[in-house]
Amino acid sequence: MTPAAAEFITPLTLQALSGNPVHTDLLDHAAEAAMGHIELARWADAVIIAPATANFIARLSNGLADDLLSTLCLATAAPLLVAPAMNRQMWQNPATRENIVRLEARGVTLLGPASGAQACGEMGPGRLIDPEELVQAIVSAGRTNRLAGVSVLVSAGPTREFIDPVRYISNRSSGRMGYAMAKAAEEAGAAVTLVSGPVSLTPPARVSVIDITSSGQMHSEILDAAATCDIFISSAAVADYRTREAAPNKMKKKDSEPVLHLEKTPDILAEVAALPNAPFTVGFAAETENLHDNAKQKLKSKNLDMIAANRVGDGLGFDVEENALEVFWPGGTQSLGTAPKENLARQLMEIIVARYREKTAEQSHEPAETEVSD
Ligand code: CTP
Repeated sequence: MTPAAAEFITPLTLQALSGNPVHTDLLDHAAEAAMGHIELARWADAVIIAPATANFIARLSNGLADDLLSTLCLATAAPLLVAPAMNRQMWQNPATRENIVRLEARGVTLLGPASGAQACGEMGPGRLIDPEELVQAIVSAGRTNRLAGVSVLVSAGPTREFIDPVRYISNRSSGRMGYAMAKAAEEAGAAVTLVSGPVSLTPPARVSVIDITSSGQMHSEILDAAATCDIFISSAAVADYRTREAAPNKMKKKDSEPVLHLEKTPDILAEVAALPNAPFTVGFAAETENLHDNAKQKLKSKNLDMIAANRVGDGLGFDVEENALEVFWPGGTQSLGTAPKENLARQLMEIIVARYREKTAEQSHEPAETEVSD
């Protein structure tokens, strides 16, 4: 909150209503100790100034950094969205017009203003847009068309390999990274299909979801869908082994120690990458040691276009909100530092889009096969 905002409503009101901390001062020592202004700027996925006064818009367009909000705006790499609210004369004033033109030229997104009755009793442009519209505008501002017309298949979550009707072998995957990848692909304009193991997550909007339980089901759904997709992102933690045969009835406790006979499951990712018309194939590698070598080895042996490796174990990787990735592709690598999984998924999606485009461009420049007749 800026000092002007705090004259309308108190920080305490906003804090109580939102259940979130409210930051007001650039150098408030208590708040800085919790999250300094630079961290706050880095943490944000988007910075939305609503309502934005004529004064703040002028300060933003001049790059001032003399309070928390203006400093945040300068320090952030996140998209800036501004929802103006002011008297119509102020909005139409050439000084404000010039500031708006400058901000838009810098990539700032303008949300509104709406036109109508104003708090000062006048009629005209300058009203803050309605909250519902504001939310909608924020959602669509994060969207791009970089993958318009492209179909993306994502696998996510764990699989369950049944021992008997009530017991199974599984793993700690929460599905968060896969769901975040599906969301990032959808935001980039792709048509997304998500094949998901059992997780407790709400699927992203506008994504078609196929629920599966076992690696066998995941195998058949993915191979069906892979035939017609352009990009396959394999984030599922597919079980490597399953019971040779699940007992039809609940196994009873006996005095002897039972032996489980396990067999290998098919490597879905490797099979997709080996298809004659394979999609652009992205794997994940969960490693507790030798991350670089193991990931590069998987990239090569499974013949992938890209692999994203993360460290797991010791509270890392599985079932946590944050992650860090090392991304490898034939001839390149990039590190993505620790960040919330949604944020990381967007960054990874950017790399996928760039490499996918490069690959499709290369393929379209390959000379077409010519028929030789005698
Ligand atoms: N994967 C798959 N089918 C399997 C096992 C794994 O499609 N039966 C995919 C995963 O979705 C992931 C990648 O393969 O994208 C690597 O998974 P990971 O468990 O790290 O590696 P594995 O190949 O299983 O090798 P290891 O367990 O020895 O590390």
